[in-house]
Amino acid sequence: MLLPQMDDSEFEDFRKLIHESIGISLSLQKKQLLMTRLYRRMYQLGINSYGEYWAHVLNDETGSEMVLLLNAVSTNKTDFFRESDHFTFLKNEVYPQLQKQQTIRIWSCACSSGEEAYTIAMTLLDAFGGVLGGRDAKVLATDISTRMLDQAELGRYPVNQLPLIPEVLRNRYCQILPETNGEMFQVSSQLKALIRFRRLNLIQEYPLRTQFDFIMCRNVMIYFDRDDQEKLIERLSGYIKPGGYLFVGHSESLIGLQNSLKYVQSSIYQRI
Ligand SMILES: C[S@@+](CC[C@H](N)C(=O)[O-])C[C@H]1O[C@@H](n2cnc3c(N)ncnc32)[C@H](O)[C@@H]1O
Repeated sequence: MLLPQMDDSEFEDFRKLIHESIGISLSLQKKQLLMTRLYRRMYQLGINSYGEYWAHVLNDETGSEMVLLLNAVSTNKTDFFRESDHFTFLKNEVYPQLQKQQTIRIWSCACSSGEEAYTIAMTLLDAFGGVLGGRDAKVLATDISTRMLDQAELGRYPVNQLPLIPEVLRNRYCQILPETNGEMFQVSSQLKALIRFRRLNLIQEYPLRTQFDFIMCRNVMIYFDRDDQEKLIERLSGYIKPGGYLFVGHSESLIGLQNSLKYVQSSIYQRI
């Protein structure tokens, strides 16, 4: 793809806007990546210069172009059962405790296209023998990207992702869709009923009053600078019930970040 030129001041404008809006911190080495991602959106609009696209974003009083810009620049890689030792920890340490509770609240706070939230839902149900037995259990799943949230709501994925899901759970909660020539599968309505997908920006105030039994905040902090990471962890900590857990990505760590959580094991922390 032949991209238009982006000069340093244009890069600086976009870099600052993205950082201030959602915390993603882009170094100059990411210029090419940013250009490619923005250009996909510009191409749809028939715009061939970054300066013109910048003006288009600023002139859009509805704010919807800004939403699309943020959709374009976020990195959304995810998988079912990603970093599977977290789900082993949930099964062995967390779900047995949750079984004693009537109300269960879980938050997947950078859920991308939903695989993380559906993995939580299927492992939770599995731990409870497939039925919640009248418990009030909810998984809140949030992300900044409306494009990812639309995919998550749909709950349809390519069948090549099925091998990531243990066979028993796959058979119970995933159904191959014949109308897609067997290329896509759909997660069950039982899983969907447990989850609420919402748009939420991790670096702004959260419109939440709940505290959670655990929060998964995985593979998003890595894109933030240290200051925003510290603020994020401090804010999330207040949303964890005492005794509850925070899971971060394996390539992330709270080492060197001011925080009040107890280290449990690599990438797992507990609120005391
Ligand atoms: C790499 S994905 C991680 C998905 C999943 N948690 C996992 O570990 O597989 C990072 C997600 O963070 C989202 N994100 C980035 N900045 C955000 C922000 N300020 N608020 C909410 N979500 C954000 C992106 O849209 C993206 O879907």
